[in-house]
Amino acid sequence: MPVARAADRILQRPIPKTGETIPAVGLGTWQGFDVAGDSAATGQAREALKTLVELGGRVIDSSPMYGSAESVSGQLADELGVKSRLFVATKVWTRGKQAGIRQMEDSMRKLRVERLDLMQVHNLVDAATHLATLREWKKAGRVRYLGVTHYHAGAHGDLERIIKPGDIDFVQVNYSLAEPEAERSLLGAAASSRTAVIVNRPFAEGAMFGVVKGQPLPDWAKEIGCATWAQFFLKWILSHPAVTCVIPGTRNAKHVADNLGAASGPLPEEATRRKMAAHFNSL
Ligand SMILES: NC(=O)c1ccc[n+]([C@@H]2O[C@H](COP(=O)([O-])OP(=O)(O)OC[C@H]3O[C@@H](n4cnc5c(N)ncnc54)[C@H](OP(=O)(O)O)[C@@H]3O)[C@@H](O)[C@H]2O)c1
Repeated sequence: MPVARAADRILQRPIPKTGETIPAVGLGTWQGFDVAGDSAATGQAREALKTLVELGGRVIDSSPMYGSAESVSGQLADELGVKSRLFVATKVWTRGKQAGIRQMEDSMRKLRVERLDLMQVHNLVDAATHLATLREWKKAGRVRYLGVTHYHAGAHGDLERIIKPGDIDFVQVNYSLAEPEAERSLLGAAASSRTAVIVNRPFAEGAMFGVVKGQPLPDWAKEIGCATWAQFFLKWILSHPAVTCVIPGTRNAKHVADNLGAASGPLPEEATRRKMAAHFNSL
């Protein structure tokens, strides 16, 4: 299917600050794309990225913390000729203004882009310093959006304080049936401050598949269009109205296709979300 038609079929969500839309399911590159020097694994990563784009996905998320993932992503996007379609997000993960600038410039070289779609402060490391640089970079057109990330509920309060004034474009945070804490307050704060939300660790780094191993999907999961547990987990996340995009990590093309499947068909209403949570928590 032509890429443009595939994109029409999957759920798109607006970035609140601009109204620009992005597909609601993307791809995380931690571990999966840290494969430089391993030709078999690089081939798998190529298939995964190709599948993402063929099915209408666009968002990839990386970090200088992820070993060779940035350079592998940049190389594969170039080889596949998909660079112009992608919405590329990466992070800055160091201390000090000059070190941050050097690292961000290095990331752009590795990802082979002139301008990043989204630069995020990884785990809030030296956040005030890098956000000051990123505000200048945004004015100068070197990044399109800026953001902050964390992966742990212990940092949700800090994320909330940073996004509340309303001048941060994206917050990236852990949120899943296994780690639902973001919905207590942070997701509401994101909606009020018109901050886009990228969800990381949607499967609690894969641990949730261990919880459901050997368990059939409940019959009623078909009513909300879930063919697999991955889709059950992702549709629960996407049905929170503050969520813009979720970025499951994998270099398995079949898993990419499975995950993109969560971005089509119905999403659960509030009562069904509660039923999904109760069911997962009973396993
Ligand atoms: N502080 C931060 O900013 C931060 C922290 C954590 C993560 N992140 C970002 O968020 C992304 C996602 O988080 P994550 O990678 O830690 O964890 P995750 O997405 O919750 O889980 C990844 C695991 O799920 C498995 N998986 C993926 N799709 C599957 C499917 N359809 N069926 C069965 N298994 C599936 C993968 O196995 P296979 O490899 O076998 O597919 C992998 O083991 C990261 O890659 C990274 O980009 C950011």
